[in-house]
Amino acid sequence: MPINPETLDQAAKRLRGARRLVVFTGAGVSAESGIPTFRDDNGFWQRFPPEQFARWDGLIKTAVVHPDQLAEFLQAVLEPIAVAWPNAAHAAIARLEQHCKATVITQNVDGLHQAAGSKQVREVHGSFFRVVSLRGQPIRSLQREELVAVSESLRRTRSGMFRLARLLWSLRPMFGLSWRGFKRPGVVLFGGAMAEPDWSQAQRDAQLCDAILVVGTSGLIYPAAMLPGLARQHGASVISIDPYEPGPSHVWLRGRAGEVVPQLVQAAFG
Ligand code: OAD
Repeated sequence: MPINPETLDQAAKRLRGARRLVVFTGAGVSAESGIPTFRDDNGFWQRFPPEQFARWDGLIKTAVVHPDQLAEFLQAVLEPIAVAWPNAAHAAIARLEQHCKATVITQNVDGLHQAAGSKQVREVHGSFFRVVSLRGQPIRSLQREELVAVSESLRRTRSGMFRLARLLWSLRPMFGLSWRGFKRPGVVLFGGAMAEPDWSQAQRDAQLCDAILVVGTSGLIYPAAMLPGLARQHGASVISIDPYEPGPSHVWLRGRAGEVVPQLVQAAFG
């Protein structure tokens, strides 16, 4: 889908004029890295009902009654993340730090902005590369190879006997008892507290920025979805990049992140 040159130019001017820039991303920025989004066709919540899989109470119940279903869900989530590489959008977003004071605020839990080289990243829904205590305090980081090993082990858990015991064994690098108490993946589920200190910092960044570039999010899940509106209330320009969702933006660049973000960064900063 070709981008209208005038719209690209308008967006580039707003980006260039920003002393402080926030890039706010959702699942769409990682779609071209092979990680499914949540709500598009074939998205996670189409295959796995969120009331069962997006809350801790639903997950615990599923673990007890249908450990095979939980293993299937976890493997479907972890495998694409474990093997993903940053795409052209992540790389172009990382380049922004060379041109202005840019902060990435992401709802994604895949670590791809850091892998692309972004230094200032707020992960408001946490990360699968972090293991935390029950109250969300950091316990340790996970390496990508450990995530690959967990996902391969989960694949073997989906059939055969003693599935709950084997599920817990597969998850032991990220879930269960540790010498520092109970540990769990450092991701935010529905009804859970936002990841701190990232969430508090993200709200401050949104209030202080001059422009916010919103990439690949349906903007449906609060409180994260309030950030573009918060930035706009405080005087920021809002530019969005998405094939379908304009969001509350001044300028909408319609298209895929991997194609549009590099063109925008090029148009703004050369
Ligand atoms: P969604 O699945 O709700 O939205 C993905 C967005 O990406 C949609 O607007 C798509 O149009 C867009 N999109 C798809 N492919 C794209 C591409 N190649 N380039 C650019 N955009 C593309 O995902 P999120 O908005 O991230 O939270 O979802 C928000 C939160 O809901 C997630 O963080 C997660 C989920 O439930 C929790 O689990 C707490």
